[in-house]
Amino acid sequence: MGTQHVHAGWRAQDAHGAVVPPVYSSSAYAHPSHARLKALFARECDGFAYARSGNPTTRILEERVTALEGGAGAIAVASGQAATTIALCSLLAPGTHLVASERLYGGTTEFLDDTLADLSVATTTVDPWDLDAWAQAIRPETRVFLLESIANPGAELVDLDAVCALAHEHDIAVVVDSTLASPALYRPGDHGADLIVHSATKYLAGHGTTIAGLIVDTGRFDPRRRPERWPRLTAPNPRFGVTFADEYDQGCSGLLGYARAKYMTDFGATLPGQSAHTVLLGIETLDLRMERISAAAAELADWLREQDDVARVNHPSSPDRRDAEIAARDFPRGTSGVFSIDLEGGEGAVEAFCDALELFTLAVNLGDVRSLVCHPATTTHCHLTPAQRAACGVGDGTVRLTIGLEDLVDLREDLARGLRAARRVRAQGIVAV
Ligand SMILES: Cc1ncc(COP(=O)(O)O)c(C=O)c1O
Repeated sequence: MGTQHVHAGWRAQDAHGAVVPPVYSSSAYAHPSHARLKALFARECDGFAYARSGNPTTRILEERVTALEGGAGAIAVASGQAATTIALCSLLAPGTHLVASERLYGGTTEFLDDTLADLSVATTTVDPWDLDAWAQAIRPETRVFLLESIANPGAELVDLDAVCALAHEHDIAVVVDSTLASPALYRPGDHGADLIVHSATKYLAGHGTTIAGLIVDTGRFDPRRRPERWPRLTAPNPRFGVTFADEYDQGCSGLLGYARAKYMTDFGATLPGQSAHTVLLGIETLDLRMERISAAAAELADWLREQDDVARVNHPSSPDRRDAEIAARDFPRGTSGVFSIDLEGGEGAVEAFCDALELFTLAVNLGDVRSLVCHPATTTHCHLTPAQRAACGVGDGTVRLTIGLEDLVDLREDLARGLRAARRVRAQGIVAV
C-alpha cells in the first residue's frame, strides 16, 4: 500500500521529467483542431477543455485515490461536502428515498434534512448497528444507504458487509463516507460499498491547508441490473447525447461520468490544480501517519478512561462498545486519531478544559498533523435538534479529540492540564450540568 501512496497516478512522464506531480494552472486547454475540441464536447474522446470540468493535476489525484481504494474511478471535487452533495444528487432523483445512519458528520445531516428535502428526497435515519432498522426503513423508492465507516465524532464502526448485503438484495446503492478511515485503514469497497466519499481536507491531505473532496466508484454498482430504478443513468440523456450506463464497459457505473458532466460542472464545485497538488503531497505520507496516529489515539483513550473527570471515552477500544468485534475484524491497523470523551459537568467543564489546553488547538478540523479539539454540540453538530445530537452520541459534555503527530507524553500532559481546569470549575460549582 505504501508504494501506491507515493507512486499511483504519476511516473515522471511529462516533457521535463518532473519527479513530483506538477501543478497545472490553466483555465482552458488548447486543441490542435476544431474536430478534436468538437469530439471532446461530444464525449467521443478524453481530454481537458475547460478547468471547471477537470484538470490534469486533479486527474493524477483521482487516479491515485482510485488505486488506494481499489476502485474503478474517481472524481475530485471542491470539498468533502461537495463530494456528498454530488454523489447523492447523482443517485437520488426527486421522489426517491434515502436511509442514513444517524451517526454522521453534522453538516451531512443538515444537508439531508434541509437541501435534499428541498429537492423532494426523503430521508429516514437509523441506528447503524440495528440491521432490522435498516431493513424496516426500506421503501419501494429507496435508492441509497448512507453511512460513515468511522463515524464523526464518536468513532463508531459499522458491520458494512452486513449492511451492503441487505442493500444489494433490494438493489440499493451503498454510499460510504470514509473520511475518518482513509484508504490506509479501511477500504469500503472490500466490504461491498458502491460509492465512497472523502473529505480530502482531513487525513488524505493531512496538513490542514486545503479543502478538497473525492467520490470513488468501487465498480460494484451496475444500474443496468434494474434499469427502471436508475433511468437517469440507463436511458439516453437528451442534454449530453449519451447513455451514461454504457460507460460501465470502461469499468465504471457511468455514475461518475454523469456526476462530473452534470452536477460538478453545473454546481461549479471544481477542485483547483493547486489544491489537488497539496492533497497529493499529503497522501505520500498517509500510510505512515495513519498507523502512528491510530496507535497514539488508542493509548490516549486508555489513559483517559482511567481519569476520574472523564465520564466516558467514546473509542472503539472501550470495553462497553458494540463495535469492538468489528474493530478487531475489519480495522487491524487502527481506527484513526478521532474519538470523543464526555466530561463530567457539561458545557462549563468543556469550556474550562478547552481554554486550558496549550498543545491541542481549538479548531473544527480533523486529520491534521496537529492535535485538535472541539465541542461538537456548539460547533460541528450545533444545527441539529437535541434528539439528533443525542442519537449520534453528542452531549453537552462531549469533546471531540483528533490526535496528531506530537509526542504522546506532551499530549497526555496537555490533556491532564485541561482535566485539572475542568475539575477546578466543577469544584467551584459554576458549571452548567
Ligand atoms: C466525516 C465528514 N464528512 C464530510 C465532511 C465535509 O468535508 P469538507 O469540510 O471538506 O467539506 C466532514 C467535515 O468535517 C466530515 O467530518
